[in-house]
Amino acid sequence: MGAPTELPWWTDKVGYEVYIRSFADSDGDGVGDLRGLHHHLDYLAWLGIGIVWITPFYPSPMRDHGYDVADYRGVDASFGSMADLEAVFAKAHDLGMKVLVDLVPNHSSSEHPWFISARSSKDSPYRDYYIWRDPAPGGRPPNNWTSHFGGSAWTLDATTGQYWCHLFLSEQPDLNWANPAVADEFDEILRFWLTRGADGFRIDVAHALVKHPEFLDNPPAAEFVRSDTSADEWGALEHLYDANQPGVLDVYRRWRKVVAPHDGLLLGEVYVLDAEKVAEYVRGEDGLHLGFWFKPLHLAWEPGAIREVLVAGAQAAPGLLAWVSGSHDRGRAASRFGGGNVGRARALALSTLLLGLPGTPFLFQGEELGLENGAVPREQAQDPVARRTEAVGRDGSRTPLPWAPGPGWGFTDGPRTWLPMDGRTEADTVAVQRADPSSMLHRYRALIDLRDAQPDLRRQPVEWVGEDGPVVAYRRGAVIVAANCGDQPSSFTPPEGAWVVAFSSNRDGEQQPAGGDVVLAPHQAVVLTR
Ligand code: NOJ
Repeated sequence: MGAPTELPWWTDKVGYEVYIRSFADSDGDGVGDLRGLHHHLDYLAWLGIGIVWITPFYPSPMRDHGYDVADYRGVDASFGSMADLEAVFAKAHDLGMKVLVDLVPNHSSSEHPWFISARSSKDSPYRDYYIWRDPAPGGRPPNNWTSHFGGSAWTLDATTGQYWCHLFLSEQPDLNWANPAVADEFDEILRFWLTRGADGFRIDVAHALVKHPEFLDNPPAAEFVRSDTSADEWGALEHLYDANQPGVLDVYRRWRKVVAPHDGLLLGEVYVLDAEKVAEYVRGEDGLHLGFWFKPLHLAWEPGAIREVLVAGAQAAPGLLAWVSGSHDRGRAASRFGGGNVGRARALALSTLLLGLPGTPFLFQGEELGLENGAVPREQAQDPVARRTEAVGRDGSRTPLPWAPGPGWGFTDGPRTWLPMDGRTEADTVAVQRADPSSMLHRYRALIDLRDAQPDLRRQPVEWVGEDGPVVAYRRGAVIVAANCGDQPSSFTPPEGAWVVAFSSNRDGEQQPAGGDVVLAPHQAVVLTR
């Protein structure tokens, strides 16, 4: 008998975000690189990871740490060489893992040759690769759009007298997706990476490539919510016209054809906190294959809210979402949920819930160690958000990974790291946790192993168990996943049957039969099987 169903390969894998600058440094310059990643790929395979997403490694002035690409077909010398990258692809494949590269199609670097030419003259053949508008009366910016990183989304070019559009830094000019030549360029960029060995793409800012053709002013936000990770000016507006335009789906329709011969994956960073809207990107046969569902990164530890966010994602686009509880753009889950042992236990409980839902879960590096945010004093901030605005910024989740006790924490042999690693402890490290079967690392490994071993967790429909109360639980065929999201011990009653506790986040009761009522400690999660 062949495989039970024809589900795509990513359904059966757990992904992992490698934030390349902070994963592992092989040459002592304090910045992670491709050889460092190559060296530790066997760790990821040991953990049970099936998809490795590598954040941008392209030549870049690094104004936004690689999300400002100066050459879409190269490797920045600080990360190594094309040969190093190909070695990563080859070794990952040997270990049974797929690799996603991070495609940044919304904007390039201002140092990309396209933009250098475009801004040199209105007659440049590349002028229309970017979005240019005449000043509004009085010389003001063409509309009220704002940048994620503070200030207007428009910068005036003195040479040509027009403004260029940038939803991020002015050094990240937005590409003009209304120009078919831009689409042609990207078809070839995708093909370039697929033929080099990439298995697909994480697509940066996947919801915003296409802008409203009339560039209308955005209305004020119905509700202003201050963010740690973007400027107030950004949060003050409802992003009606600079994102989420229906035309963006034409881009993905095209890309589906490009990746199809390679069975490549299109995974979108659809940063839209409405499950029905994310679903529009992935429903049907010609959209993105998967979209990240980011609402869990915005959750307070409250059972009603957690249930609502999980149910919304699971119902809006079953099997088509990538589940995450952290990324290089948000504070780490363990810190968001209160820090210390409680924060760590809550983060593991949420991961337990996410790993069994339909779709593909992704861990952010260090989550498997229960890491909290690194301590980065304001004067050492590197993130443009922190340097340009009052916001806390994203550095806390981006500090280097502690691999082993000792100087440089096994991350580097060099004297310093690009972000500080102060405050890490021996217990945080991969080496110490790998040697300790009771560690967080072994909990995550056991969880992934269980997901692999239970096809029902990947194939059966989800039935939610109970509609309120502190225990959030669901059943998929012969598996039940439950987490106590309250602060008191709580019980739930599994459907009739002889259930066994196959996984218990704090190890209590593991491998024991579950009784008629299962009592969970605060922040404890279990997986029951029969
Ligand atoms: C999303 C990326 O994850 C983030 O790090 C970056 O700053 C923006 N997109 C702009 O590329």
